[in-house]
Amino acid sequence: ERKKSSNVTWEGLNIPREEREAKQTHKAAALWFTGLSGSGKTTVAREVEKQLFARGIKTMLLDGDQVRHGLCGDLGFSPSDRAENIRRVGEVARLFVESGALTLCTFVSPYRGDRDWVRELMPDGRFLEVFVDVDLETAKARDPKGLYAKVDAGEIKNFTGISAPYEAPENPEMTLNTTDATVEESAAEVIRQLEAAGLIP
Ligand code: PPS
Ligand code: MG
Repeated sequence: ERKKSSNVTWEGLNIPREEREAKQTHKAAALWFTGLSGSGKTTVAREVEKQLFARGIKTMLLDGDQVRHGLCGDLGFSPSDRAENIRRVGEVARLFVESGALTLCTFVSPYRGDRDWVRELMPDGRFLEVFVDVDLETAKARDPKGLYAKVDAGEIKNFTGISAPYEAPENPEMTLNTTDATVEESAAEVIRQLEAAGLIP
């Protein structure tokens, strides 16, 4: 349910997304990367964004580690704080999508209900859930930020995949198995599927 404020009038967007898209080579959409910490969400999305940018596509990347320094700096990792995190970044992503951008979003977003809330918020067909699937053992071995080691040392509570749940997507638009694939292979797969969906030329 999207909250509404009283005594506020919403006139609608000044320039509709369709008019913006008519002047672009590509469509606007949210590419929503979800998966365990260390699965490769950020790494793959950064590579995809570089390739899209090189093709002249308007892009934006919103990342959990980034927004938690500012927009969501007041939030922790309880289920309700994660829901609020995803609600805020979902609303922000929606604005970028309405601006015509291919908007890459990289959040653990472990709860199906939170992700579905964002899906409902987006224009039809413009929310693409990308399941960045990895073996927990592989994510732990990568441990790029030393977080799993901290979890083992008892220094982090509610850690996704260990002491907090991860609800895998049931019908994601894309699945990337990053246990076996390289970053380049995963990025190429995303680009290929964006082309197949007619979102980019
Ligand atoms: S969420 O669940 O979608 O609200 O999380 P998100 O905003 O994507 O933030 C995840 C990043 O925060 C770090 N971190 C944790 N992740 C999961 N669980 C716990 N308890 C936690 N504490 C800190 C971690 O760097 C996550 O980034 P990634 O890139 O996923 O490793
Ligand atoms: Mg990351």
